[in-house]
Amino acid sequence: MASAKTQVNKISTGVVGLDEMLYGGIPEGNQMLMAGDAGTGKTLMSFEMLYRNANINIPSTFITLEEGRKSLLENVKGAFSYFDDIDDLVDRNMITVTEQKVVEAFKSRESLQSFIVGINRIIQANSSRIVVFDSISPIRPLIDSDRTFTRAISQMIENFRNLGVTSIVNVETASPTLTEVAGLYGTYMFDGIVKLSTYKEQNSFQYLITVVKMRRSNHKNSSMPFEITPKGFNIFR
Ligand SMILES: Nc1ncnc2c1ncn2[C@@H]1O[C@H](COP(=O)(O)OP(=O)(O)OP(=O)(O)O)[C@@H](O)[C@H]1O
Ligand SMILES: [Mg+2]
Repeated sequence: MASAKTQVNKISTGVVGLDEMLYGGIPEGNQMLMAGDAGTGKTLMSFEMLYRNANINIPSTFITLEEGRKSLLENVKGAFSYFDDIDDLVDRNMITVTEQKVVEAFKSRESLQSFIVGINRIIQANSSRIVVFDSISPIRPLIDSDRTFTRAISQMIENFRNLGVTSIVNVETASPTLTEVAGLYGTYMFDGIVKLSTYKEQNSFQYLITVVKMRRSNHKNSSMPFEITPKGFNIFR
């Protein structure tokens, strides 16, 4: 008898080793949190996912809050010196990089709504299937309470869900367990959580990646070490 399970379409991350951890990729339409301490690779890894997809003609949007558009592009081109077609993909809007100022946007419900409407226009203009939001961390200090912050983030995530895009939302957190992210009442709004971390090994730091949860898919449960190379991320298997 045929399996009753319906096959979910998966978005390949294109990151070496990560698709195996995710049994093929991120279920399309999932909203994923990528959490990690400062410097663990959130910006670079999420950019690589868009880059790999742009190369197979899947368009995406990278929303940068932490650094300006120019600085982000210089950063990724510097880190991934083998990716010599980044400018071309950006020029052709296969990767749309948009810098967003959030100070005003999160002051009231109305301004949040118009922020979301603005982002939607960009996402829809280039038929993006993947969206990176890098990151929600600078928003938290602009908001008075955890409750309002959680509501604003949930609203943004629900909006991505309604658009049908797969999102990767970055957050800076040092939480070892990820049962909590500072300022958020839980992470229930996310279908998936991937955690990046480091540990000290003799005189150097070793990077680790863990798939904490992924709705609609099986995934590996062990943490895997990885390296960041000029040819992209490499998760060791
Ligand atoms: N131009 C570069 N060349 C080589 N390595 C780089 C370059 N840029 C970043 N890296 C390395 O990649 C690591 C991850 O950088 P990335 O910016 O993705 O981290 P992040 O998790 O987004 O950090 P943050 O919390 O500061 O936003 C850095 O700590 C650094 O070791
Ligand atoms: Mg970053």
